[in-house]
Amino acid sequence: RYEKYWLIFGLCTLVVFLTIVGVNAFSGGHQPPTGMMTLDPTKVDQTPPFDQPGLKKVDDNTYEANLIAMAFGYNPSKIEVPVGAKVIFNVTSKDVVHSFTIPGTNVNMMITPGHVNTSEFSFDKPGSYLVLCNEYCGSGHHMMQMTIEVK
Ligand code: CUA
Repeated sequence: RYEKYWLIFGLCTLVVFLTIVGVNAFSGGHQPPTGMMTLDPTKVDQTPPFDQPGLKKVDDNTYEANLIAMAFGYNPSKIEVPVGAKVIFNVTSKDVVHSFTIPGTNVNMMITPGHVNTSEFSFDKPGSYLVLCNEYCGSGHHMMQMTIEVK
């Protein structure tokens, strides 16, 4: 009977649809952090490299930006990086879930306490880039930001 074929066709369509939704959900939005390290969120200030937050030169064209997110800002609130240099952002949170989002780039990380979330980017154009928090983290959420000066 035809109904049987339609039922099978319907089920196949459903499976394909769910697969596409699943793949999209995984590849887009909040990506799983690449360089995952765990740490005690209450001891961030004592845990290297976050005991000395800020920019660290790795080699001629590579820098590490070790940053702490907290209600309601980032430490440090401003860094300066050279044009074209590869910047590896290592970000952790001292309190609740925040995000580290640089509009206009592919840097968009969810920052969870207890983890270091890593992303890298090269700024090819000089200018002042704003970093924003995209996760609601409390009353000061809308004020949470930092600046990256690219020179
Ligand atoms: Cu931090 Cu919103």
